[in-house]
Amino acid sequence: MHRPKLAIGLVSVALLSGVALVGSASAEAGPAATPAQAGPVPAPPQDRPAADSLRALGDRVGLRIGTAVNMDELGSNADYTRITAEQFSSVTPENVMKWQLVEPTRGTYDWAAADRLVEFAKKNKQLVRGHTLVWHSQLPTWLSSDGYTTTLSNDELKALLKKHIQDQVKHFKGDIWQWDVVNEAFDDDGKPRETVWYKAWGGLGYIADAFRWAHEADPKALLFYNDYNLEFTGPKSNAVYDFVKTLKAQRVPIDGVGFQGHLDTQYGFPDLQNNLQRFADLGLKVAETEVDVRTFTEAAPNVNTPTDPLASYAQESYWSRAMKACLAVRECISFTPWGFGDTYSWIPGWFDDPQEGAALLYDGNLQPKSQYYVLQQDLALAAGAPHRPGPGGGRH
Ligand code: G3I
Repeated sequence: MHRPKLAIGLVSVALLSGVALVGSASAEAGPAATPAQAGPVPAPPQDRPAADSLRALGDRVGLRIGTAVNMDELGSNADYTRITAEQFSSVTPENVMKWQLVEPTRGTYDWAAADRLVEFAKKNKQLVRGHTLVWHSQLPTWLSSDGYTTTLSNDELKALLKKHIQDQVKHFKGDIWQWDVVNEAFDDDGKPRETVWYKAWGGLGYIADAFRWAHEADPKALLFYNDYNLEFTGPKSNAVYDFVKTLKAQRVPIDGVGFQGHLDTQYGFPDLQNNLQRFADLGLKVAETEVDVRTFTEAAPNVNTPTDPLASYAQESYWSRAMKACLAVRECISFTPWGFGDTYSWIPGWFDDPQEGAALLYDGNLQPKSQYYVLQQDLALAAGAPHRPGPGGGRH
């Protein structure tokens, strides 16, 4: 239903920006063929992404476009693997760098899946967002089954966290662009979560230690605090703002703040740009790290079919505004959707009463949705804007 409208939009964007949007072949193959000469469209060279891919359009404005990657699909699902390489210039492991997966048995590391992603990224000229070193969720059961209780002593927990951070950061030294060092340390009311880490340190002191240990292990990696609902001005965003300001004042090596960006059309669009900017004004980089835009959907098995046929218009608007907020803030160095195929999204499994879904840029058959084309247009229109740092996204 949206395709004709978008095709028109793309032509006008192409005219405005000078980007060859309808396939890269015209840009690569010289003068356009006459109808009589027209044959199969040549494939783009393997070493260069198509000019209308999100990653190529992002390059033009100095913004890395990322995706979370499901390692059950990468390598085994041909379409999934191709899209990951073609569309994105940064990748985040959705699960395989989390403590539960890298050290399922105490003292025995399993880096295999994460190593595979890093290799894939190198081969495809992508940067890696490491996710995540300190979190209360997805801990190995030998450490804690719920993130809030444990049989281990405080001293043991402190030693374990130091070893975990140092071993993991050293293992990937030189291969990680941004590390989510600490994830989700605050509740929505702005109070610190009283996790096993908070209790072991008797406060938030574990966070400064975590950043210092990570920095020692890989001084070149950009170190981020990452959380959700920072997009909205309110108790949580304010508390995290005050806290990272304190970290900066204490010269803790924090480089940035990640705004997860799990958005929902039932709520108003947040004052995201203002929040990105006020954190950036503290001398930090910012990034949108886990963007998705969910909406109400039908019951199983159609969990990715919106109940409101007009929902995609709201979703297009939210995706577009999320992208524009990042584009408008010079210190926003990457924009990462939390995956790209609705089938693989965490949303339908988590928000099932009432059912929500359809949160990503590609549908269940890995076909781009209208939301994808809106981002393409936003990036194309931004090309050449003078306030961006330029190709490469300001790596460090
Ligand atoms: O690997 C096991 C598999 O062996 C088992 O058969 C299956 C049965 O449930 O579970 C599998 O583990 C699941 C894992 O994803 C890998 O698929 C876990 O149950 C499931 O809870 C886990 O969900 C992940 C969730 O984090 C955990 O909290 C989601 O995939 C992942 O998208 C989500 O990502 C988080 C970010 O890390 C932080 N911000 C919020 C975001 C969404 O919750």
